[in-house]
Amino acid sequence: MDITSLVAFLQSSRLAPWLDTLPMQLEAAFAASHGRWQEWQGALATTPALQPSHHNFNSSAVCIGSADDADEPARTQLRQALQTLIPWRKGPYELFGINIDTEWRSDWKWQRVFPHLGSLDGRLVLDVGCGSGYHLWRMYGAGAEAVIGVDPTLLFLTQFQLVKHYAGEQHPVWMLPLKSEDLPDLRQKGFDTVFSMGVLYHRRDPLGHLQELRRALRAGGELVLETLVVAGDEQTVLMPHDRYAKMRNVWFIPSVAMLELWLQRLGFTHIRVVDVTPTSTEEQRCTDWSKGESLADFLDPADSKRTIEGYPAPVRATLMANTPA
Ligand SMILES: C[S@@+](CC[C@H](N)C(=O)[O-])C[C@H]1O[C@@H](n2cnc3c(N)ncnc32)[C@H](O)[C@@H]1O
Repeated sequence: MDITSLVAFLQSSRLAPWLDTLPMQLEAAFAASHGRWQEWQGALATTPALQPSHHNFNSSAVCIGSADDADEPARTQLRQALQTLIPWRKGPYELFGINIDTEWRSDWKWQRVFPHLGSLDGRLVLDVGCGSGYHLWRMYGAGAEAVIGVDPTLLFLTQFQLVKHYAGEQHPVWMLPLKSEDLPDLRQKGFDTVFSMGVLYHRRDPLGHLQELRRALRAGGELVLETLVVAGDEQTVLMPHDRYAKMRNVWFIPSVAMLELWLQRLGFTHIRVVDVTPTSTEEQRCTDWSKGESLADFLDPADSKRTIEGYPAPVRATLMANTPA
């Protein structure tokens, strides 16, 4: 993975201390490589050489090039490469007229979050658990100076690499195959904005996760936290016995009030709840680009307000908070 442009950027920024650990962390991430990594990288290598006439990072589908920029054989070659990278979970994307209708309408989440951000103009932004990087492009489109995403899933990294290849390597948008546990302590000189969306409930140590996010922020920086919640007071949290909505790796689903308390106890200020929305089967559904099961299969067929295990169906909250200035 070529990180030359990222290294150059970090060296000239206040994030430079991250370079003390980053090369070793990347080495470790690739040492435990996935069995299909070579296949995915092979798909990337077979993408046709195409010059996009335009791109749009502010549209619902992150859009690069148009159908007129590629002849039919090239589009077929590109479609095949894209299909090798199924499942596409987060999007949508439109590449040279090929519409990648992903499992999630990630643009809906962005529509819920974006109005509360004020501006990302000139900000250094980190997106923890960024999936294929869909929101990285929307953050960049919203004016961020530079955007870095971390996510340990190598399929999603390959999807990001493909999109970036066509978007243009010159854009200061990078993704690293790291976990939030790998984030450096930037000693209050870190990112202006840190997003963690859809990650907290995957962590056995949710307060540890919030501390990791805090350490990656600058003094006075902004956290955007989106996660599953349940109804209840500040002492309410759901810990599934085993699976939640068929997901094996769900640990804690707190109430909104408990989330606020966690943030307050960890020293965040100006804590506000900006959105609470049940996840619908229109927002998360099976498509030709995701295959397999999706939310409709994870809910009780007799009662869509319950998961198949009998827990409350998914509801997601977005909270924002700041580190003290
Ligand atoms: C539900 S998806 C959310 C994707 C995207 N942020 C969104 O909101 O649409 C959760 C993502 O978190 C990633 N993830 C899981 N554990 C993580 C960790 N410890 N650190 C960073 N990312 C993690 C997964 O690989 C997955 O892509």
